[in-house]
Amino acid sequence: MKKIFSLLAFCPLLFSVGKLSAKDVFVNTPKTTLMLSVNEGSTPRIHYYGSRISHSQAQEIYDAMSINYDAYPAFGRTSFDETALSVTHADGNMSTELAITGSRQEGDLTIISLKDKAYKFFVDLYYKANSESDVIETWTVIRNGEKKPIRLEQYASGVMTLRQEGAWITHFHGTWAAESQMTEEPLTPGLKTIVNHDGVRTAMDDRAEVMISLDGKPQENSGRVIGAALCWTGNYKLRLETRGKYRHTLIAGIDELHTAYTLRPGESFQTPELALTYSTEGKGGVSRAFHRWGHNVKLHNGHQVRDILLNSWEGVYMNVNQEVCEQMMDGIRELGGELFVVDDGWFGRKYRRTDDTQGLGDWMTDTQKLPDGVPALLKAAEDRGLKFGIWIEPEMTNSKSELYEAHPDWVLAHPTRELSKGRGGTQLVLDMSNPKVQDYVFSIVDNLVKGNPKLHYIKWDCNMSMNNYGSSYLTSDRQSHLVVDFHRGLRSTLERIRAKYPDLVIQLCAGGGGRVNWGFMPYFDEFWVSDDTDAQQRLFIQWGTSHFFPTMAMAQHVSASPNHQTGRIIPLKFRFDVAMTGRLGMEMKPSDLNDREREYAKKAVAFYKEIRPVIQLGDQYRLLSPYEGNGFCSQMFVTEDKSEAVFFCYKFEHYVDLHTPRWHMAGLDPDATYRLTEFECSEHEHYFEGKTFSGKFLMETGLDANLSRQFSSRVIRLKKI
Ligand code: GLA
Repeated sequence: MKKIFSLLAFCPLLFSVGKLSAKDVFVNTPKTTLMLSVNEGSTPRIHYYGSRISHSQAQEIYDAMSINYDAYPAFGRTSFDETALSVTHADGNMSTELAITGSRQEGDLTIISLKDKAYKFFVDLYYKANSESDVIETWTVIRNGEKKPIRLEQYASGVMTLRQEGAWITHFHGTWAAESQMTEEPLTPGLKTIVNHDGVRTAMDDRAEVMISLDGKPQENSGRVIGAALCWTGNYKLRLETRGKYRHTLIAGIDELHTAYTLRPGESFQTPELALTYSTEGKGGVSRAFHRWGHNVKLHNGHQVRDILLNSWEGVYMNVNQEVCEQMMDGIRELGGELFVVDDGWFGRKYRRTDDTQGLGDWMTDTQKLPDGVPALLKAAEDRGLKFGIWIEPEMTNSKSELYEAHPDWVLAHPTRELSKGRGGTQLVLDMSNPKVQDYVFSIVDNLVKGNPKLHYIKWDCNMSMNNYGSSYLTSDRQSHLVVDFHRGLRSTLERIRAKYPDLVIQLCAGGGGRVNWGFMPYFDEFWVSDDTDAQQRLFIQWGTSHFFPTMAMAQHVSASPNHQTGRIIPLKFRFDVAMTGRLGMEMKPSDLNDREREYAKKAVAFYKEIRPVIQLGDQYRLLSPYEGNGFCSQMFVTEDKSEAVFFCYKFEHYVDLHTPRWHMAGLDPDATYRLTEFECSEHEHYFEGKTFSGKFLMETGLDANLSRQFSSRVIRLKKI
């Protein structure tokens, strides 16, 4: 049901702002307010973003001489700061001067309409206030009313500005197998740019999410923090301009480099959403707001608890066949798992997928490996009471494939240049701007499900960047539309898939976490966090990722020891304890476990089933960061009603005589008493088993839960009594 805003939410008030009278608009979520002034004939101004305020406090905002900054600065007239919009008009004029022509609130939307003073060029600013979480989404719709085409050179989604000395930024960057590494640094004068030019795997290196801490060095559970996430599947740019140490302006949007977009007369362009939140509960408060927004609004099936699965990749890589898959199915069934996923290697006829040099695009079963095809695999899973899933990489092909032989014009390419190839020396990216390619990508999923109606899960992978920047579908004057039109084509294909198959579980993967962005999440149930399954390194990657993404979406798998990526040897308990803080799965041959390990794994899976709703649906509190550099880490999950919680602590580095920190919990009911139980302390006695403490004690005084050896960990379950 649409929430009807109170009339008071949008009220004309008289203030002494120069000689003007100010008309203010409040964009309210349960705990936050964004206040803008929207005087007709003027530019929209941001004055306040913070804890929720009432209209009677608007005067205080003005009297305090608070921020007063253009909410969508355009290039070429007055602003010498960073701009959000730059346009070459039909007559060649590169300047734009926007003025408000009207504003309105409809349900949870606030719309501010702007027009260029000299041209029929229009911009509508949208702000959507989410009533069930403290996230505001903002985007723009730009329209060409001129008589000839205009060219958008820069077209950001949104702007946020604040005034605070000593603010810090938290951002995330990485590479393959080391995604989402966290960096925290003070904001200093100048321009901080977070940008991605990959074209396809746009979260592999820098990520499109930042937090700005207003009270100095970022804290987990205290202090004022703004969080911002650009929800866009393609290239992006986040600019943070700091002037005079205290004025910080964030402008976020599609990266304009090589992406100028022509609008014909009458055409419009909608920018992706920039999601914003504000919290007084530190970075953790920002994370919890984004997680809740994910559950309620953005993540596909955000309230449904996820299955425990076995994925075949690290167990057998491309050496899949009926027999080995059935062995793995037996293994995961014995451990208590619920779903088996066959990864890469199951397809290809003329070009069999025996390695990564061929076969992408030829989505028919390799009958040498699987004589009875996918239906036989699915039946084998079903016979064992398991659900079944399968891997595809639909936007890609290899130059050695029947698909490429039939449709060489479907790949991104430039007619005058030799192809630059990716993985396996042969991989190519399909041109998703081409509607025929969109139909083909839709048909891959459609045919798989039609042929296997009980198919439960798809792993949708993507292992190459946008090399060969050129489309034979787009006309020569529209080549700069490629990134935008590729991603519009991808999104509309995903929308079509979701409209037909809303219950299909789809994992987003891009060589690991190379596509982790809120722009994708409406179509996906979860994502593969990283190809690095080393539990020690996963502590860092998962810590970073959890800043903006909820645990239920984070695929975390227990793999073999020594680890295949790092060679590190880590006990099974530690590997489980790290994987259990997300959507638990396994990435190995269960038959490689010895009897003792198998018994342990059974207990761990059974225990995870008990705590799964707390982990996947509860509130996450990060406690001790692995990035502190002391070799320890802890976090916990608490149900919304605070009646249950699960606490995890880890020691991942070892120094002689290193003291274990005192573990302070968070998020509990201070007045409640909790009974503690410990899950499988491999190296310690169950010291806390059955003991009771008040929530206040656990948060203020904390526990001395000793962790002595490297890779020791504890999991403590708390229940209110
Ligand atoms: C990518 C994925 C892996 C696996 C392989 C298969 O690297 O991240 O999990 O699916 O592709 O080729």
